[in-house]
Amino acid sequence: MEVLSVSHAFLMTEIMCFSILVVSCNHISLKGNSQSNFLFGTASSSYQFEGAFLNDGKSLNNWDVFSHKPGNILDGTNGDIAVDQYHLYQEDLDLMDYIGVNSYRFSISWARILPKGRFGKVNRAGIDHYNKLIDALLLRGIQPFVTLTHYDIPQELEDRYGAWLSPLLQEDFRYYADICFKFFGDRVKYWSTFNEPNVLAIRGYRSGIYPPSHCSLPFGNCISGDSEREPFIAAHNIILSHAAAVNVYRTKYQKKQEGSIGIVMNAVWYEPISSSLEDKLAAERAQSFYINWFLDPIVHGRYPAEMHELLGDDLPEFSMFDMEMLKNGLDFIGINHYTSFYSKDCMISPCEPGPGVSRTEGYALRTAQKDGIYIGEPTAVDWLYVHPQGMEKMVTYIKERYNNTPMFITENGYAEEANSNTTNEEQFNDVKRVEYMRSYLQALADTMRTKGADVRGYFVWSLLDNFEWTSGYTVQFGLHHVDNVTLKRTPRLSADWYRQFIVNNTLQILSAQE
Ligand code: BGC
Repeated sequence: MEVLSVSHAFLMTEIMCFSILVVSCNHISLKGNSQSNFLFGTASSSYQFEGAFLNDGKSLNNWDVFSHKPGNILDGTNGDIAVDQYHLYQEDLDLMDYIGVNSYRFSISWARILPKGRFGKVNRAGIDHYNKLIDALLLRGIQPFVTLTHYDIPQELEDRYGAWLSPLLQEDFRYYADICFKFFGDRVKYWSTFNEPNVLAIRGYRSGIYPPSHCSLPFGNCISGDSEREPFIAAHNIILSHAAAVNVYRTKYQKKQEGSIGIVMNAVWYEPISSSLEDKLAAERAQSFYINWFLDPIVHGRYPAEMHELLGDDLPEFSMFDMEMLKNGLDFIGINHYTSFYSKDCMISPCEPGPGVSRTEGYALRTAQKDGIYIGEPTAVDWLYVHPQGMEKMVTYIKERYNNTPMFITENGYAEEANSNTTNEEQFNDVKRVEYMRSYLQALADTMRTKGADVRGYFVWSLLDNFEWTSGYTVQFGLHHVDNVTLKRTPRLSADWYRQFIVNNTLQILSAQE
């Protein structure tokens, strides 16, 4: 911690006192309904953290290929090395240990386990790597919370099938999931099939800014694609792939391994821009075309009514068999919640072109401003505004729509710009991140207490600065700063704040049990 200056130390004390005060006076208690095993963790993903891109038998995946194409990543970088967690995981476990988390959310690199999908052999070195990581976590009392795919798939499958456009990929995913359950399921008690399939479908097949770069005008300028149809085809195959994996888990493994399985959604809160009925319905449509698009089929066996009405034949259909297999197709819902937007109706009164206004997005304009005022303080990224009220509304919405299915906040975090001109003071005294986490955790605690929401864990994005997809290394989300050249990890104020927060909560939980 040698980089911390005197004023950092002073600020630290100030903020600690503030947090302790808040914890004891306003009772930020995240113990949930009855469980004392609330998970506090940090989240990550294989492509953004691991590096080691062709080491030990791993093959190329879609993000390796995409990020190597000039022009795709803002700063021209890639995840070849990322933060090298593949080699440095013991060091990162020390950091987690220090913070005191009891869970770590990471994803498995599909191309490390099955370099050629189901058309090749299992890569033993890949299995060994995750075995070592899982064992090392458990040795420290940290529960692995594992995602099967966080946007990445072996390039072999992208080439063969055009990725998620083909129903054949369902069989590949089922096969891959089976292997993961078989090798790791004796120790992994929390599985999620996909990370943010809604973002994957939209960015991969509507705007085309993520692989496989499919889109059509006016949504984007790609070589091929159909922005009005392909997102729904990809989503349909993802939903059925999820169901196939859950089915394997439930029939072959769950009873013996005693774990649970869910899916992680990106969850934006859409606030109606006015109190008019039209804008309220627009906000509802925005949710249906974003989260309910996946969760309704998985929980209720059908797409939301608004999607049927607006999309007609552009929405694929589930067979009777699919519908049966889908119902109650998860044990928990993972919620990645960072931000909120206003939603304005464009169905009754047409809008100017803008995000959300098309038929295939539900005719609901998405905007961060109302009368020139932002919904919350802007941050270093154009999609993240600080609006902690959204946490309460989002969790309540999901609780009510999905019968209070157990929930985990699988990601929540604050972005800052990587800027070589910032002073150490600015770099490490991340007071805004601390305030963001404090206010969102407060809102979460309130929702659990006042609404009885069954939330069972909270994960910060992220333990470390890392490869932020198309933004490369220009944006930082870490509780720890990572030097891009030396890869040295240095704690920020927020790491210490989170540590103190966990201590206080653990104490509360223990005292509540006495
Ligand atoms: C994704 C992460 C990403 C984070 C911050 C989430 O939507 O799951 O991979 O880094 O947001 O943008």
